[in-house]
Amino acid sequence: MAVGVFTGVDGPVGSFSGKITLSVVITCIVAASSGLIFGYDIGISGGVTTMQPFLQKFFPSVLRKAAEAKTNIYCIYDSQVLTSFTSSLYIAGLAASLVASRLTATIGRRNTMVFGGLTFLAGAAINGGAANVAMLILGRILLGFGVGFTNQATPVYLSEVAPPKWRGAFNTGFQFFIGIGVVAANCINFGTAKRSWGWRLSLGLAVVPAAIMTIGALLISDTPSSLIQRDKVEQARHALRKVRGKDCDVESELAELKKASDVAKEADQEPFVTIFERQYRPHLVMSIAIPFFQQLTGINIIAFYAPVLFQSVGFGNDSALIAAIILGLVNLASILVSTGVVDRFGRRFLFMEGGIQMFVCQVGVAAVLAVTTGVSGTKEISKGYAILVLVLMCIYAAGFGWSWGPLSWLIPSEIFPIKIRPTGQSISVAVNFATTFVLSQTFLTMLCHFKYGTFLFYAAWNALMTIFVALFLPETKGIPLDSMNLVWEKHWYWRRFVCVGSGSCSDTEKEQQKWPWEDSAASMDLSAASVARSHFRSSGDHMHRGCF
Ligand code: BGC
Repeated sequence: MAVGVFTGVDGPVGSFSGKITLSVVITCIVAASSGLIFGYDIGISGGVTTMQPFLQKFFPSVLRKAAEAKTNIYCIYDSQVLTSFTSSLYIAGLAASLVASRLTATIGRRNTMVFGGLTFLAGAAINGGAANVAMLILGRILLGFGVGFTNQATPVYLSEVAPPKWRGAFNTGFQFFIGIGVVAANCINFGTAKRSWGWRLSLGLAVVPAAIMTIGALLISDTPSSLIQRDKVEQARHALRKVRGKDCDVESELAELKKASDVAKEADQEPFVTIFERQYRPHLVMSIAIPFFQQLTGINIIAFYAPVLFQSVGFGNDSALIAAIILGLVNLASILVSTGVVDRFGRRFLFMEGGIQMFVCQVGVAAVLAVTTGVSGTKEISKGYAILVLVLMCIYAAGFGWSWGPLSWLIPSEIFPIKIRPTGQSISVAVNFATTFVLSQTFLTMLCHFKYGTFLFYAAWNALMTIFVALFLPETKGIPLDSMNLVWEKHWYWRRFVCVGSGSCSDTEKEQQKWPWEDSAASMDLSAASVARSHFRSSGDHMHRGCF
């Protein structure tokens, strides 16, 4: 059922029949389950680091400090050593995500996911059996490698396999599984918190999501484009037939993939160099800005702070974890909303709506805390106000769940041409982890000193990122991956960077193509080179036609 054709400068460039096969649904669900391990870790580490027996064994100084700081709700967990433990995962993940760019190109997206799952599994086993801090950190580094690999490979996998018309919906599956991991971990923490060995079980049980996703990944085949790139033409044909449906003639798509791969092999340049070319500036900016802003929404801060806040206002350990579980469930439901509307309303609308919603909630939380706990944070907050804060946090979590949560994985995986897609995704994951690292290093100290002002800080970032999206992010819904260049060519600002490719530059834009030191002769060469490169981009990428 053809429902639309995207018309590019050279005519129709892809058809959108929107055909979803059972096989593509199952394949994408299985692939998206890789998000489980990241989510599990996020959920578990927050809870475990507040468990008394865990702190007693590994970080006794934190407990002493907690006893002294009892009167100030903002400073209880301000401990550098505890923060370093949590964030060691992000440094390891950052390194792994950069290596993953090469890995996904040479061993494929699917195998990188398997590799990540196995590494995470090893880390979980070591953490569960940890006898000292060194084992704890070693395990955490392995967990970090695991999520570095899977977070890089999975979104690319999903975007390459999904039908373009529903790419957004399929891709949100990754964030959905992250959310399931978070909720599962919170529930497990809830069950284990009261036992002296509970932390061991919480950390060790990470082998379960790791085993699920690794076995799952072993059961699916790699993406057709990745198989072709690795000269596995027969397997690629088989994989295409499977996801597009048996009655579908996949030969033309296969031929396009082959062409793409041949051209990519001819242009033998290091992708980490290519990605810095001027024509890829818009892509590069997005792959950095989107994950950077995602972290500055303050999601991890809210997630971390919710249990601490509720615990410190006397709701007790249980209620603190229950608050975290409620937040997690709201988040999950809202990701499903995103799945339902992302390909209808588009990415820009969700980003902006979510940004405004989070801004309002952050300001609200800051105001309630300022009024109730006082400037110093020493006054008791009443249960009624604590519930109001929880409600605001839930509305915030919903905003994140249908916008910056899933879309921050989607955008970097869909905007790049095939040749530098893994590299773009690697940069994006690395930025995500680096920002998480810096924020987690500074958040507790910031909370301790700026108190409720911390939430205003994040509110300001939410306002800024909403303006950024309004001005600079083009709409990518429904556009086949191979035609994505057109969205930049039509964009009021980015056009000047990419218009050479379509030969549609105005004179002013041609001038803007020049670097300051170029004379006109050199600039003509540059333009010719850009046209050639751009031709490679549009002809060499994945042409989706016919069956979806
Ligand atoms: C973010 C994480 C966050 C998680 C919450 C992910 O998309 O990258 O930092 O903790 O969502 O569910």
